[in-house]
Amino acid sequence: MTRSSSARAAWLLFQLSVASAVEHGGGSGDSVAEIEQVSIAKFRDGSAAERAAQVEALQRAFALQGMVTLVDTGIDQDLIDRTIRVSRDFFSLPRARKQHFHGPEGYPPRSFGAITSPRGKHYHLQQEDEEGNILNEWLQVRNTSVQVDWSDPYYSCPEGQEHYSSEAKHPEQQEWPEEVPGLQEATAAYYGAMEELSKVMYELFAVALGIEPDFFLKQALRSPIWPVTIAHYPPQTHAPAEDRARIQPHWDRTLFSMITSSDAGDEESGGGLQILVDSATGEGVDGRAKLEGRSVEWRSVVRPKGGYVVNVGEMMSRWSNGRMKHVVHRVRNPVVNHTDPGRISLMAYVLTDYDSVVECLPCKTDGSEPIYEATWVGELMNWGSKLPIYNQTKQEMMRQAQGLYLSNGTQTSLGEPTDVKAIEASLALCDASGSSCMPNSATS
Ligand SMILES: *[C@@H]1O[C@H](CO)[C@@H](O)[C@H](O)[C@H]1NC(C)=O
Ligand SMILES: *[C@@H]1O[C@H](CO)[C@@H](O)[C@H](O)[C@H]1NC(C)=O
Ligand SMILES: *[C@@H]1O[C@H](CO)[C@@H](O)[C@H](O)[C@H]1NC(C)=O
Ligand SMILES: *[C@@H]1O[C@H](CO)[C@@H](O)[C@H](O)[C@H]1NC(C)=O
Repeated sequence: MTRSSSARAAWLLFQLSVASAVEHGGGSGDSVAEIEQVSIAKFRDGSAAERAAQVEALQRAFALQGMVTLVDTGIDQDLIDRTIRVSRDFFSLPRARKQHFHGPEGYPPRSFGAITSPRGKHYHLQQEDEEGNILNEWLQVRNTSVQVDWSDPYYSCPEGQEHYSSEAKHPEQQEWPEEVPGLQEATAAYYGAMEELSKVMYELFAVALGIEPDFFLKQALRSPIWPVTIAHYPPQTHAPAEDRARIQPHWDRTLFSMITSSDAGDEESGGGLQILVDSATGEGVDGRAKLEGRSVEWRSVVRPKGGYVVNVGEMMSRWSNGRMKHVVHRVRNPVVNHTDPGRISLMAYVLTDYDSVVECLPCKTDGSEPIYEATWVGELMNWGSKLPIYNQTKQEMMRQAQGLYLSNGTQTSLGEPTDVKAIEASLALCDASGSSCMPNSATS
């Protein structure tokens, strides 16, 4: 793999000069991002022209904005409502009871969740304020329809075992709170619905990239490693410190993320999703962008009723050679003491199998220069892995490169000056000596 110029490969955000920061508080002063809408029904069942129009909307959106909204998904609104309702019931349990469902120590410390069984759940307290009030807590669920063959080396090799284990090995993932009848059933059914929707999205993205329509589908046959993450953002009785938002600014490392949320506790309280855009052009700020001297601002993302918000993660950005933007986003804090009951978000962080090689797709057809080194899904996702095939230094650098950003768009300290070359070098594919499960080539 040849290296392109360091300027093109640079992917860090630093030294932001943020002229206008949208501060806390809904209502006046908030700008709303203009986001393309895609109809799943028209892509799946429409005429050739309707199908093409959805593909073009998706292409435009990810070239410029980094986000689309989805309508006509075919997901049963009753299922969404039921899942939100039982999740609220779960999150209203006493704290100690919820903590009971936190996994044992030694779980894989991955960025995207800790469920290892094909079916199960996991509770995680994600973010607290300085006084210990919960700002963000997660219930993660999985109920994959894939039949796992435990003798397949994909599951049994060391890397496979990091991602997958039998239900017998982790019985605590199967334990559900009897105080919340219907939680398991609703969340499992919702997972199934997301698994189905993800298949349509795999195809839509592949068509938009001009590759074989089943390219991503074929990379996700042996069990999605992703959970559905149900986030609860309670109302707030005082404003947390600057560096503690419901979700700090970041970008996703997924292929793509599909999010819907409760109507209550959503945009009304000002505590919703926002993307970082260039103030002059309105273009979404990509995780690679170098922002020195640029003026950026936060814009709120408004989800169509019953619809979804979809953004791509770093994985899709890498596969598309940066044609699809992985935009920086956050969930900001709501107006203090707003009467909204708090927001519930249902988030599907969709990935492919851990052994998919993530490398520039356009380079194979049009001679583009790759802007990223090749990597594989397992490496991208396993920041904190204890596996020897992962390089801890490198993982830490990748974690830091993702950075944490203050609510005003300023990046938290990475130490000055940031060594971009070192980060780039760290992204070269491991030559993983002695690994028994190097990734398969995605294209062979
Ligand atoms: C952003 O917030 C941090 C912490 O409050 C502050 O130090 C910094 O000066 C702010 N930057 C801008 C551009 O307002
Ligand atoms: C969970 O998944 C299994 C296997 O696909 C399926 O039989 C079951 O119906 C699912 N549960 C729900 C509530 O959808
Ligand atoms: C919000 O409510 C809390 C407790 O109900 C109260 O102590 C606090 O002063 C209120 N803050 C504002 C800004 O109204
Ligand atoms: C781990 O990665 C760092 C940063 O890329 C590199 O300097 C170091 O040599 C690597 N260590 C090993 C054992 O490969």
